[in-house]
Amino acid sequence: MEQVYLDWAASSWPKPTGVAQAMVDFMGANGANPGRGGHRQAMTASRAIYECRVELAKLFHVDRPTDIALLSSATEALNLAIKGFLKPGDHVISTELEHNSVRRPLEWVRVNQQVEVTYVGASRNGTIDLQEVSKAFRPTTKLFACSHASNLLGSVVPIAKIAEMCSERGVKLLVDAAQTAGSFPIDVNAMGIDMLAFPGHKGLLGPQGTGGLYIHPEIELEPLLHGGTGSNSEEVGQPTVRPERYEAGTRNTPGLVGLKEGVRFVNTETVASIRAHESKLIRRMQEGLEAIPGICCLGPNRGEERASLLAFVRKGEDPAVTAHRLDREYGIAVRAGYHCSPLGHQTAGTTETGAVRSSVGYATTTEQVDTFLEAIRTMPAK
Ligand code: ALA
Repeated sequence: MEQVYLDWAASSWPKPTGVAQAMVDFMGANGANPGRGGHRQAMTASRAIYECRVELAKLFHVDRPTDIALLSSATEALNLAIKGFLKPGDHVISTELEHNSVRRPLEWVRVNQQVEVTYVGASRNGTIDLQEVSKAFRPTTKLFACSHASNLLGSVVPIAKIAEMCSERGVKLLVDAAQTAGSFPIDVNAMGIDMLAFPGHKGLLGPQGTGGLYIHPEIELEPLLHGGTGSNSEEVGQPTVRPERYEAGTRNTPGLVGLKEGVRFVNTETVASIRAHESKLIRRMQEGLEAIPGICCLGPNRGEERASLLAFVRKGEDPAVTAHRLDREYGIAVRAGYHCSPLGHQTAGTTETGAVRSSVGYATTTEQVDTFLEAIRTMPAK
């Protein structure tokens, strides 16, 4: 049975062939510690990491590559942004669409740092009400933290409009691009994004264990980690210079070599063409699913903007069972459950059931989507 991989929203696969090859080649030729030595291998490792930063800067239209901290995940990036920025007495606005990687650090600062948090509501299909957003600002509001797209509903948040409201009030905007980096155009300057958290292993097509945070040059964060950076070793305090300030400890050089190749692939293919491909497939999936009796799709209506994912429930069947049957009986990999998004389930009214989520990527084919639809159409009720 040929495997049909429709779990790109959790992690992309297959990666472009150059990704694994670059990692293997690099590890065969180089094991040195980047930034910790002047010998040629160490310098080559440092250069490889810098090139990764440059590719990312090109993708997100960042002026200075050193304003991107290379980290282990989007989750680490969100923790650095939220815990490093907010101070006791501050107020932060977020939304009811958030993944736990935004919500949990927000709840942590609420409980431990006396930060106040407001979650702006969303409609059942994941639309944020901008009037509600404008009412949520207070004199103490310092940050707006939200996903670019819901990882459960697939709805896309109007970042540029929220950025305008933030900028009028001197509030900084943190965006979680977990479901959009690499498949939606993101220009931090044009969109007014002050901090952008991104995973390396989803739309950027790199390996797991990579990710990062763009930090606007005027924003100063308290580092999450303190330790060796290979620079300013005589000083007791963490260096103030970027990116070392936010990169204590040896970087995941092989992973970043792979990420560089993934981002290079995205830059070469162009985000616009990847978006057009994924958008066509997810539309086809939604049309197909909505035509099957007993299937209830979550998120935006047909024709509305949607990230490259679609969650649904099959009437009378536990989503975990649907996903298990798709895998074992049809060779189709999807994700089921709560998707680390209890707030999103409250919004969609699926807290009791959870949902099955199917997601596509640059390498998904129309035939794979049709195989999936045929499986759902013909799968006997149990
Ligand atoms: N955040 C990832 C997902 O939505 C893991 O599946």
